[in-house]
Amino acid sequence: MKKIKLFDVNLDKKEAKAVLNVLNSKFWASGAGIKKVDSFEKKFNVYTGSKKCIAVNSGTAALHLALSLIDLKNKEVILPSLSFVSTAHSIIYNGGKPVFVDIEPKTLCINPEKIKQAITKNTKIILPVHFGGATCNLKEISKICKKNQIMLIEDAAHASGASYNGKKIGSHGDAVCFSFHPVKNLAMPTGGAITINRKFGTKSEKSLKSRRWCGISNRKGIEYDVIEKGWNFYMNEFSAAIGLVQLLKLDKLNKYRKKIAKRYHEEILIHNKMPFNNEWSYHIYWIQVKNRKEFMKKMNDVNIETGIHYKPIHKMTLYFQNKKLPITEQVGKEIVSIPMHPNLNENEVNKIIKNVNKFAKN
Ligand SMILES: Cc1ncc(COP(=O)(O)O)c(C=O)c1O
Repeated sequence: MKKIKLFDVNLDKKEAKAVLNVLNSKFWASGAGIKKVDSFEKKFNVYTGSKKCIAVNSGTAALHLALSLIDLKNKEVILPSLSFVSTAHSIIYNGGKPVFVDIEPKTLCINPEKIKQAITKNTKIILPVHFGGATCNLKEISKICKKNQIMLIEDAAHASGASYNGKKIGSHGDAVCFSFHPVKNLAMPTGGAITINRKFGTKSEKSLKSRRWCGISNRKGIEYDVIEKGWNFYMNEFSAAIGLVQLLKLDKLNKYRKKIAKRYHEEILIHNKMPFNNEWSYHIYWIQVKNRKEFMKKMNDVNIETGIHYKPIHKMTLYFQNKKLPITEQVGKEIVSIPMHPNLNENEVNKIIKNVNKFAKN
């Protein structure tokens, strides 16, 4: 019996043609040649309605680079603990201190009231995560940032194509970081992007571009200079070529994800599950169960993959903080992701709903 996968990338002949085109061009890195990375940046910028867009080689790199815009040495960044660990890594890569706060029980996004309580004179950035493609309360968070003169940098790894109050994610925060990992809504072999909606003083877009490529700046022909350190965070042309095809179908694929999410929300009987919202992108669909280990085994026995997103970061050895985040900790014990991708057919969705209702305990 065929396994129903938790994630699955949607591919057609266009991605294959795009890859072959890059292969035969022999320009595999960006910079010269057929300029797929440039083209992707421009198109993603228009799609999100942001002011600028810079493509990089992962969501992790996007976060690392975006946070490097601000001097974080011994400063604090407020973030949720329920996320992939790269969200927190981006802070310590830049010499900052992660301050984890609790989430809202319905959306599993960071709780604005808890942000207010955690602000100190050292707080420099608020780093919310649009969890599973559910958008955070950006209205409230933006207000807090403005009042306290703090930067808003969003982790939108799950939110390609999601909107908040009618505007695409990517157009709200000072900087917004995307991941195009193969399981994400917009898939590449590996890739990411930062959209920018304000000026960052001297550490400007120009600086981001130079730091994306080892600090190289002022290139004129064979001449160039290095005035600051940088990393090798360049997106490659294969990823960009695939991303351009994926971007064209992103809205259509997200619409299909929403159709599945609506069915899950209406037909799964368990109480704690991801709400339905037509603006969300549904990178994952989560439920909370009391019998997680047994539930996941039983689902696996009937050939349905499930996953856990995530173990709270403040419980990891590197980040261990003996603080209480009651909602995060409860969710961390019960959360399960069930299959969510654009290749699921109706029979598979029926089978998933039937078995969740059979095996999940509230
Ligand atoms: C919330 C979140 N942030 C950041 C990342 C990092 O993205 P990437 O895997 O492209 O480096 C991920 C990837 O899973 C993620 O889920």
